[in-house]
Amino acid sequence: MARKFFVGGNWKCNGTTEEVKKIVTMLNKAEVPSDDVVEVVVSPPFIFLSFVKSLMRSDFEVAAQNCWVRKGGAFTGEISAEMLVNLGIPWVILGHSERRSLLKESDEFVGDKVSYALSQGLKVIACVGETLEQRESGSTMAVVAAQTKAISDKVSNWTNVVLAYEPVWAIGTGKVATPAQAQEVHSDLRKWLKDNVSAEVAESTRIIYGGSVNGANCKELAAQPDVDGFLVGGASLKPEFIDIIKSATVKQ
Ligand code: PGA
Repeated sequence: MARKFFVGGNWKCNGTTEEVKKIVTMLNKAEVPSDDVVEVVVSPPFIFLSFVKSLMRSDFEVAAQNCWVRKGGAFTGEISAEMLVNLGIPWVILGHSERRSLLKESDEFVGDKVSYALSQGLKVIACVGETLEQRESGSTMAVVAAQTKAISDKVSNWTNVVLAYEPVWAIGTGKVATPAQAQEVHSDLRKWLKDNVSAEVAESTRIIYGGSVNGANCKELAAQPDVDGFLVGGASLKPEFIDIIKSATVKQ
């Protein structure tokens, strides 16, 4: 079965009620390929999740940007996977590089989070990616393999996982990976899944690219055989997000 194209919009820590309303109105009006062709998931900050879910067209879904590593309780400031399930939020982004670097989330911690979120019935966009220093020292694949291994060590069923390859040097920098650079790592990650999980998981798991994707560069990236979609930051707040969703037709 072909992998359905996946476009995620990561709004990060942005937006006021008015701005959020504006983005949702823009998305609700957009003419995009049907949900047989592309799966669209937007990820507002926690505080706007219910609001966005209540306003958003029914063919788009919502994702949280994080959740707690285990069952809720005395963890001040955290949001549990159970709460997201209770609110009808189907997706969560985990292991984003901003959390790995700024909040010091380790590979193991991210693996535990992915495992716990899946156990509660959430679908997970799990992020991996190397820094510029790691790329320049030639350790890109070693880094993303270690990050993916920490997830696969804790996860037995990959059905509800989308793997997002997001090179840290490309995030928010305007310095997008070339289609060849993205394809190379996606293909290596798929091979890693084949060798370390199973051929079936390698074939069926969506591997999406993130890092300075925009309306102008999305089509060429989408044309790469192992690029199954995008996780979009900055451009997901703008009308060009629609063009990025439409790049799904490149696969047809
Ligand atoms: P960017 O962010 O598109 O603004 O580079 C991508 C991400 O962090 O998911």
